[in-house]
Amino acid sequence: MVAARLGNAGGVVIGYGEGEMVLASDLAAVLPVTQRVAFLADGQFARIDKLGASFVNVAGEALQVPVKRIPIDPVSALKGDFQHFMLKEIMEQPEALSDTIWSLATLEPAELYLNDLGAAAERLAGVQRVVLIGMGTSLHAAMIGRHYFEQFAGVPAETDNGSEFRYRDPVLGPETLVVSVSQSGETVDVLEAMAIAGAKGALQVTICNTEGAQTARVAEGAVYTRAGLERGVASTKCFTAAVVALYALALGKPGQAKRLSADEVRRRLGSWQGCPTQSQWYCRREAIPAPRERLRHHSTPPLPRPGAGYPAALEGAPEMKEISYIHAEGYAAGEMKHGPIALIDPSFPTIAIATKHALRSKMISNVEQVQARGGKVLAIVTEGDDELARLADGVVTIPEVSELLEPIVASIPLQLLAYYVAVHRGCDVDQPRNLAKTVTVE
Ligand code: G6P
Repeated sequence: MVAARLGNAGGVVIGYGEGEMVLASDLAAVLPVTQRVAFLADGQFARIDKLGASFVNVAGEALQVPVKRIPIDPVSALKGDFQHFMLKEIMEQPEALSDTIWSLATLEPAELYLNDLGAAAERLAGVQRVVLIGMGTSLHAAMIGRHYFEQFAGVPAETDNGSEFRYRDPVLGPETLVVSVSQSGETVDVLEAMAIAGAKGALQVTICNTEGAQTARVAEGAVYTRAGLERGVASTKCFTAAVVALYALALGKPGQAKRLSADEVRRRLGSWQGCPTQSQWYCRREAIPAPRERLRHHSTPPLPRPGAGYPAALEGAPEMKEISYIHAEGYAAGEMKHGPIALIDPSFPTIAIATKHALRSKMISNVEQVQARGGKVLAIVTEGDDELARLADGVVTIPEVSELLEPIVASIPLQLLAYYVAVHRGCDVDQPRNLAKTVTVE
C-alpha cells in the first residue's frame, strides 16, 4: 500500500501492529490496534507492507520517519458497563480533570509544571496579545480560556474559529501568542490556521489530548490534557479538560510575568484543586431526570447566560443538536431581546444558566420575561438559590465554585441533558448521523 500526504487535509498515521500494519487518517482510529505509530508530514510518501514501512520525499529520496510510542489508558478504549461511550466519558470527568490538573501543577509548593512548552516557555512572558483558535467544542473551550488570559495576564485575548481565521488576513506578529485548542490535534481548519500563524511569526502553543498529534508537532509548545481516549462524537471530558489546561497556561508564564503575585497564583491553584470534586457532584446518573420528557419530541431549547460562562451555553447547544437532533441555540442573555424572544411560546423551553457568578439579577429578569410569554424555564442554579428555585419551572443545582471555574461545572448538567434527551429519542448517541469525531477535510 502507498500513502501520501499533501498539505494538512487528511492526516496520515501509520500504525505498527503485531505482524500487521494499519493506516488511518486519525490517531484515535489506530490506537485500539497499536500504540507504535509514525506520522507522515506534508510532501512525504510511505510504502507499507505487512512487515513495515519505508518513506520517501517528493524527489524520491529516502527518509527516516521516527516511530513513536503513544501512551494511552486502555480503560478509556472500553465501554465497560455503560450503554454509551458518551455517558462513560461524562462520568469520567472528575478523573480527567484531576489527571490533567495534577500533571500540570503541585499545591505544596504551589507550582506549575508545563513541561511540554519546549521552546515556547521562554517567550511566553513577553506575549502582548493572545489569539485562541479551535473548532466546534474546542472553540468553546478557547472562548472560556480567553477570560483566563484577560484576568491573569491582563493581555488582550480574542478567539476565532480556524475556518474563519485561515481565510482572513489576520494581523499577527512575534509578540502574539496563538493558542490552538484541538483534542485530536488533527482538525484541518485548525492546522491551516496554524500554518498561517506560523508564517506570520506568531508564537504557538497547542492544547491537545493526543500526544504526538499534528498540532503538537507544528506548535512550539503544548499543554496536554490527560482525559484519555474520547470515543463519543460529542466531546465532553476533553472539553472540560481543555478548559483546565487553558487555565494552567494563562496562570503560568503570562500571568506570573504580568500580573499575579506568588500568593495569587497559590490561591488560584487552590481553587482549582476543588474542581474535580465539584464535577463529581454531577457524575451520577440520576442528576438530570426531570426535563427530558418535556424536551423529547420537539422544540428548540435556547440557552442564555451572560459573562465568562456564556461559552458554556454555546457548548450546550451543539451537544443537543449533535446527538438528539433537536435544534438548540446558545446566546448571551443580553441578546434575548434582539431576536430569541420572538420565538418564546409554551412549546419552547429555555434553559437558563443562572448560577451565582452569571450576573444573576439579569438572569432573574430574563427568566421572568420568558415566563411572561408563556415559556417554560429550566434553570441551572447554584445550590441554595431558593429564589430562582421558586421562580423557575425546574432547576438543576451545581455546587458553588469560583467564577472562573463555574463554566466547567455548569457544562456537565448540559452534557447530561443532551445525553438523556438523545437516549429517550432513540438516537445513536455515539455515532450521530453525518458527523465525524475528527474532521480532517474541509
Ligand atoms: C468535530 C467533533 C467535535 C469537535 C470538533 C473539533 O466536529 O464532532 O466534537 O469538537 O470536531 O475537534 P478537535 O479534535 O479539533 O477538538
